[in-house]
Order: sequence, then structure tokens, then C-alpha cells
Amino acid sequence: MIEIHNIHKSFNGKKVLDGISGVFETGKTNLLLGASGTGKSVLLKCIVGLIKPDIGSVTFDGTYFTNNKLDIRQEIRRKIGMLFQSSALFDSMTVEQNVEFPLKMLTDMRKDERLDRVNFCLNRVGLEGSNTKMPSELSGGMKKRVGIARAIAPNTTYLFCDEPNSGLDPLTAIKIDELIKEITEEYNITTIVVTHDMNSVIEIGDKIMFLYEGKKLWEGTREDIMDSNVEELNEFIFANRLMRDAKKIEEEEEAQEHRQHPQA
Ligand SMILES: Nc1ncnc2c1ncn2[C@@H]1O[C@H](COP(=O)(O)OP(=O)(O)O)[C@@H](O)[C@H]1O
Ligand SMILES: [Mg+2]
Repeated sequence: MIEIHNIHKSFNGKKVLDGISGVFETGKTNLLLGASGTGKSVLLKCIVGLIKPDIGSVTFDGTYFTNNKLDIRQEIRRKIGMLFQSSALFDSMTVEQNVEFPLKMLTDMRKDERLDRVNFCLNRVGLEGSNTKMPSELSGGMKKRVGIARAIAPNTTYLFCDEPNSGLDPLTAIKIDELIKEITEEYNITTIVVTHDMNSVIEIGDKIMFLYEGKKLWEGTREDIMDSNVEELNEFIFANRLMRDAKKIEEEEEAQEHRQHPQA
């Protein structure tokens, strides 16, 4: 479980995060949802320690992180896997070398152990046998899969994904979302996914935190999100025509149910 408490961050006097607190649960895909420019990536960077918050703290499974001693911070960092928006693979390395890289950096595994682990992870993301391919030979979805394999290779405890399905076609996007959710549950990882995509909410939103102009305005599950009373959230959700139609159908069904059982 990751806990954040009262996170504030400004850049050049401009407030980007305005006192955000919350909990990200273990074994769940926790979504940070919101429109572009609302502070999602900055919050994620504050959590990983790439940006230092002006005020506030982050705790990983009870261990205080933000201003702790370097060795304790490094110990937590080792347990974090990141999937970046661009996949950020090393272009001059093969798929195998990309996934092996964090094992070389972070573990004292022998070469044969590393290769076993690489093959296990490639297998898990559906890329068995792609070891010798170069990133330039891969489709967008395959690059994300390599990115996921690399992120989980060193037995990751915490997985952070910033817009993991950006730039993918809708079907591939759903597959990547589902893969992240499955892996999260299988290995009991605490996963945070940054997204502005309502499809992700519907597919994988176990727990959702909605950000708006640097504040947390709502949190809940995908089951609750359509019924929120938060105006900014509703505007965000129902900007999508499909979501408006879905809401209308739901309301009509409820009205019909009420006509059939008026006392219910
Ligand atoms: N390093 C930085 N320096 C100055 N401003 C930044 C920096 N990083 C982000 N911002 C600003 O913070 C705001 C939120 O950005 P970001 O967290 O990237 O939004 P998003 O929700 O789209 O991920 C934006 O206005 C952005 O310009
Ligand atoms: Mg972003």
C-alpha cells in the first residue's frame, strides 16, 4: 500500500498540486484520472521521487520515503518498476538486453538466472521468442509489452505506468490495460496507472482517484463513477458521447424498473 499525504507542488509560483492525500492499494490497479495538464504526471513523479514535493509525504508499505535517508530511499526505489509513456526502450539493445538491463543494475543474479527471468517475463507478456528483435522491429503494442516485462523483471513490488495505452489502437490499448491488471493481481503488485482514458476506467479501474487542477475531487470504483455528483468529473466522463448514451440507457432501465416495482 502506498499512502500520500498532503502533497503540494508549485513550479515558478504556479501551483500544480494542491494538497493531495490518498491511498493506493496492494494487488489493485489504482488509476490517477484527469484531463491533460491537471498534474497527474507530476504527482506520479512526486511518488517515485523524481520530483520532490514542496510539502507532503509518501509512505511505501509503512516506510516513510520522501525525506528519508538515501539508503532507505534507494531500497524502495529498487522495488519500483516504471512504464513510461514512450515505452523508452534502449534502441540499440535487443528485447532480451532491454529486459535484462534492470537485473544487471539491481540484482546480483548470475547470467543464466538473468536469462531465465528474462524468458519468464517475456513469456508472461506474450513475447516468447522475441529475444533477438530490435525495438525498431516491434509494433507499438509489442514495445509496451517489452516495457512491462522490463518493469516487472526485478520482482517489482510497485508498478507505475504513465498513460500506458497512449498511441495505441483501441483494441491493443485494452489488451495492454488488461495485461497490467492481470500482472498486478497475479504478483500482488501495488500499481498506479495515469490515464485520461475512460476506456481504461471501464476496463481496469479497481480504484480511481480523479484529479482536477491539482486537487483530488473524487475517488471510488468504476461501479460508482457514473453516479458521482461531482460536476467536474461528470463533465470529464460525459464529454464522451458513448458514455452519455450508456448513462441514458442506465437511467431508462432504472425508470422502467421503477414503473414495474414502484414501491422499490
Ligand atoms: N518540470 C516542470 N516545470 C514547470 N512546470 C511543469 C513541470 N512539469 C509539469 N509542469 C506543469 O505542471 C502542469 C501539470 O503537468 P502534468 O502533471 O504533466 O499534467 P498531466 O495531468 O497531463 O500529466 C502543467 O501545466 C505543466 O506545464
Ligand atoms: Mg501526463
